[in-house]
Amino acid sequence: MQIKKFSILIIIMLSILSFNCSESNQQLSPGKRLFGKLSNGKEVYMYTLKNKNGMTAEITNYGATVVSLFAPDKNGKFADVILGYDSLHSYENGTSYFGAIVGRYGNRIGKGRFTLEGKTYQLTINNGENHLHGGTIGFNKKLWTTDSFDGHSLKMTLVSPDGDQGYPGTLTLTVTYTLTDNNELKIDYSATTDKPTILNPTNHCYFNLTGNPQNTILNHVLMINADKYTPIDSEFITTGEIANVAGTPMDFREPTPIGKRINDDFIQLKNGKGYDHNWVLNDYNGNVREAATVYDPSSGRELEVLTDQPGVQFYSGNFLDGSEIGKGGIHYQHRTAMCLETQHFPDSPNKKNFPSVELKPGEKFSSTTIYKFTAK
Ligand code: GLA
Repeated sequence: MQIKKFSILIIIMLSILSFNCSESNQQLSPGKRLFGKLSNGKEVYMYTLKNKNGMTAEITNYGATVVSLFAPDKNGKFADVILGYDSLHSYENGTSYFGAIVGRYGNRIGKGRFTLEGKTYQLTINNGENHLHGGTIGFNKKLWTTDSFDGHSLKMTLVSPDGDQGYPGTLTLTVTYTLTDNNELKIDYSATTDKPTILNPTNHCYFNLTGNPQNTILNHVLMINADKYTPIDSEFITTGEIANVAGTPMDFREPTPIGKRINDDFIQLKNGKGYDHNWVLNDYNGNVREAATVYDPSSGRELEVLTDQPGVQFYSGNFLDGSEIGKGGIHYQHRTAMCLETQHFPDSPNKKNFPSVELKPGEKFSSTTIYKFTAK
């Protein structure tokens, strides 16, 4: 009798367990599964993009976030080269923007204030006294609508209402991720507005090309195609100056290990707590061109970043301090990943000498960034 009761209990427990597991693993259609439910009860999906070489990218419509990206090393061995979380709950509560699309304005706007066509706007303040990555509830914390998915390409749209985080105009932003057969993750942005506004979306993938986020990225060899960068003050706000990289630790025109000069006695590295700056990319003319390359000598993986944007923020993971618990329960430690966020320059709305980020009704914003993987 006792044994019977016990086995019934076990059966009940097992079925509860399998129900919970299947909720997030259940394939709804090829390449699409339920990722989880938000605290408001809404369902969130995970899409798996594949290419003919065996690369995969998992992308969720929460924050239009890249959750994993498997790329081959020099021996053809695949590993996940980006940081992120295992659960939707962690994405809802996380503060590091892992893999997400950030907006409306990627990077900082000093005091969260700017003037457009004679009117001053106050945005939400979420980084000291400043506005960072779109504010308190940026695009990384929104549920995007999936327009189409075919196994290689995923198109998602977000409508940000007039007044969202203080920004004027209803903005409609569409992002298409494509995993190409050339081992590229291609990101196409397009947007329109119904009132004059500002826009500077970017992707916030954190890369660790070793495939093991317990390693730092200090041995990664970085090249940035830029003669100049935009210095910052101690609050990370651009000063308006456009400075030469020549003769400074900001010079990455020749491939250089990230760790080589990161602790140099250089005021910009002190202000940024490491590298956390915008580089002014060469040859800005609206066409996609090479922005940066990163090479990991241990795995042989190389990432090439191409964009039509005028700048790239190279962030060396200085705020990672072990408090974020990522995929597989790993505590992400200091400088165990790096970001290359293609963008307009930080605080552009308040710096008239920087290229404009304004978008007007009737205009169409479009932009492309490519993360391309090779191994040697
Ligand atoms: C960007 C910023 C950094 C930091 C990260 C997110 O790269 O420039 O200062 O805020 O995002 O932690």
